Amino acid sequence: MSKSNADIVARPAGKAGPAAAATRSNPGATIAPGGNAVAELEALATRHLVQPWESLENLGQEARPLLTGAERVYVEDAKGNRLLDGPAGMWCMQVGYGRREIAEAMAEQAMSLAYNSPWYSTSTPAAELAARIAEMTPGDLNHVFFTTGGSTAVDSALRFVHFFNNYKGRPEKKLILSRGGAYHGSTYLAASCSGKERDKVFLDFADDLVVHLSSPNPYRRPEGMTVEGFCDFLIEEMEAKILELGPERIAAFIGEPILASGGVLMPPEGYHKRAHALCRKYDILFIADEVVTAFGRLGHWFASEEVFGVVPDIVTFAKGVTSGYVPLGGFAISSSLLEQVSGPDNKGSVYSNGYTYSGHPVSCAAALANIRIIEQEHLLEHVREISPYFQARLKELEALPLVGEVRGMGLMACVDCVADKKSKNPLALDNEVGGRIDAHCQELGLVVRPIYNMCVMSPPLIIEKPEIDKMVEILRKGIEMTQDDLEREGLWHRSMAE
Ligand SMILES: Cc1ncc(COP(=O)(O)O)c(C=O)c1O
Repeated sequence: MSKSNADIVARPAGKAGPAAAATRSNPGATIAPGGNAVAELEALATRHLVQPWESLENLGQEARPLLTGAERVYVEDAKGNRLLDGPAGMWCMQVGYGRREIAEAMAEQAMSLAYNSPWYSTSTPAAELAARIAEMTPGDLNHVFFTTGGSTAVDSALRFVHFFNNYKGRPEKKLILSRGGAYHGSTYLAASCSGKERDKVFLDFADDLVVHLSSPNPYRRPEGMTVEGFCDFLIEEMEAKILELGPERIAAFIGEPILASGGVLMPPEGYHKRAHALCRKYDILFIADEVVTAFGRLGHWFASEEVFGVVPDIVTFAKGVTSGYVPLGGFAISSSLLEQVSGPDNKGSVYSNGYTYSGHPVSCAAALANIRIIEQEHLLEHVREISPYFQARLKELEALPLVGEVRGMGLMACVDCVADKKSKNPLALDNEVGGRIDAHCQELGLVVRPIYNMCVMSPPLIIEKPEIDKMVEILRKGIEMTQDDLEREGLWHRSMAE
């Protein structure tokens, strides 16, 4: 476990105050992660850092845990606690922490060519990585556009679809079909495609461009409906919506193969193929958002074809492509689609979309090193072998009164907590329950990804059986402690569970 001082680099804060003074006297210096230094860094974060999904109501009151080191499947916090990383960072730390090969590939690239403008040039790693990804993706998805992460991958893919239809002289074909429960990112259009209602307060969205269908969540399907019937319902709803709006107005359908941040929602068997067939029938492009599911999470480079039997027109990726070591994302697009708007017959066709860091050479070098590790260590095979054990062990938690369902596939799973198992109501306190479980688990040595009433687990792909056992045991204990708390506080009782 790395406890090196280099893990924390304090920067000059720019304003007076004890922490600022301490760092300004030694700008850029490292501070040992102990004692007062931790308190000072937490104070800097509390005062100056605004983080994703920041609760502004509580701004300035508490910093998020300060991590100072990591190795394999463990992270270490500033208090010296070693925690098993249940969510693999944010679904991204595929090959685990502390991989010197990736760091060295990045360093070498930074020394030889730290940057090149993608407007005027390209680089060896970008060219090689595009070719590798073209090999990994299904069908004729042979072209790759690089972005800076998942949101920009989704946005760029959607902008391509709009460009495509404008160029083809059908500017009215612009609507995007998405689903309730989806998460596609935080840029304007990607956020508009997201379907998590509680993320929609106080923000604006491109509602004129996006239409949401029902969440394909079999666990919360209408009462009395079979899972097969639910699949029929979803497909019939999709077709009815296409006919209501007019296929000539619908440009694309976007879907995560498994809705990740929505709570690892796995649509019913056959859903993907039938949704894809509807897209073909009505000339609608099918975009698979594989930002989470690609690069091994389900035991394959990409899951669309190998797991769900569909070849999308466009597939997005990010996160696992570099195992989170450095930002990178992108989309792969089919030759047949691109050919329709390219070549000498398509004069003036310019896809005016890109980023200063599209195909960044250091990011692409990190991705190539990451892919080499996945291959050399046979991690795709490892995921396929170990995931039944991972799923079976987690499934044992369904016996706990607070747990309604444990579901998942590959190395992604969700523990869905409910007040009572019959009505499947999330607890009245649902915003807190995942957080409460996470807090207990962190005390016990496990990081959980809490989402309202749910706990999502998606560990690094290198995880082994003893670590899975440890994860499940801590999670069990964390849930039991939460049950006790809820009962003590009079908020819930286990007799409600039946
Ligand atoms: C399916 C999916 N798409 C897109 C994104 C956005 O990716 P990023 O946070 O890298 O912008 C996420 C992030 O979790 C995601 O889960």
